Amino acid sequence: MPDLLVTGGAGFIGINLVRWWLDRHQDDRVVVLDSLTYAGNRHSLDAVMDDGRLEFVHGDIRNTSLVEELLRDRDLDTIVHLAAESHVDRSIEGPDEFIDTNVVGTHSLLKAARAAWQDQDGSWRRHRFHHVSTDEVYGSLGSDDPAFHEGTRYAPNSPYSASKAASDHLVRAYHHTFGLEVTTTNCSNNYGPYQFPEKLIPLMILNILHGKPLPVYGDGMNIRDWLFVDDHCLGIELALLKGIPGETYCIGGNNERTNIDIVRMLCSMLQDRVVGDETLRARFPECPASRGESIEGLITFVTDRPGHDLRYAIDAGKASNDLGYEPSENFESGFRKTVDWYLSNEPWWSKVMDGSYRDWLETNYESR
Ligand code: NAD
Ligand code: TYD
Repeated sequence: MPDLLVTGGAGFIGINLVRWWLDRHQDDRVVVLDSLTYAGNRHSLDAVMDDGRLEFVHGDIRNTSLVEELLRDRDLDTIVHLAAESHVDRSIEGPDEFIDTNVVGTHSLLKAARAAWQDQDGSWRRHRFHHVSTDEVYGSLGSDDPAFHEGTRYAPNSPYSASKAASDHLVRAYHHTFGLEVTTTNCSNNYGPYQFPEKLIPLMILNILHGKPLPVYGDGMNIRDWLFVDDHCLGIELALLKGIPGETYCIGGNNERTNIDIVRMLCSMLQDRVVGDETLRARFPECPASRGESIEGLITFVTDRPGHDLRYAIDAGKASNDLGYEPSENFESGFRKTVDWYLSNEPWWSKVMDGSYRDWLETNYESR
């Protein structure tokens, strides 16, 4: 079985993947490499940190020699590459970091993998480079268009998706030109525990609890295909274990929802929870439901995101046929688990909401 280097393992999907992997692969070791940007939280790994099979390395994927050394010294044969700048709104405000991390960083990682795994005579040791990408590289769908699939033409629209598209192409090129054994998954929007509260679902949950406006971009009719994070972890695991080098796999949840539906669903779920729970009313006095008022009154339509993609949807048929991939969480149950997690993990989100993140959020609200 493989020993993994997980880049970005202190971020949202990374933390969930590390837990997922170590729970299911008792003989494997995992080394997390993460530079701990605002989106990375080392302490989120604490629950699995006691496990001698996990090591945390604070470092940057752009440090090619560090990565090469880690692969050699720890004798790692697999990279799962998640490290990225991942928030579209930030990529609009400042694209530079997205190019540096997502494009230059991915190339640095590919160079390190080649240096560590390819011998002088050109032969390769046993290895796999798995690249975690997004459905956003395919651009935007009209309401009646068929869902994205592996053959859909790339048409990224935001600096974020363009930087991910560029990284996908570099990964593909290292396979085609040098023979690096790569697999890529392009996944739809994830939600679940440990997601940084700048993304739609956790942002709305926390704003509801604190009685802050719920900023819905444009008319709220943009559509995303939502997947519970564990089902993404399953897709990555299957691509690693059963995927064919050089292939890409689209991973999704068959859960298309408009943004306004998501926000209303959260309002309704938390209205019931807070009204029916004295402890929650005491913990969150600013939540309208704690005063017997409607949470939906917080919904505020704000200026649309520039270049806002209308619709994403994934056809996961190939992953289903070739890898046996089937998401196990339905939207209701995944949503409930997510809301429960944020209600039970205030120390986590109050910590990550400190400092620069809070400043960024406030400036961002003011600019709309
Ligand atoms: P995230 O922003 O929560 O986490 C990113 C992690 O990468 C953080 O821990 C950060 O510290 C780390 N990182 C950033 N720059 C780094 C660098 N230069 N060197 C080392 N570490 C660095 O992101 P996420 O939501 O967990 O997404 C992980 C990956 O999955 C990304 O590549 C993203 O494009 C992809 N993806 C995300 C979604 C989603 O809905 N969240 C969907 C599809 C694909
Ligand atoms: P987001 O979570 O940023 O993911 P992505 O842009 O990568 O799909 O946003 C999901 C959708 O929610 C997207 O259509 C933008 C919208 N959105 C809002 O309406 N309000 C918000 O405050 C945020 C963060 C997102």
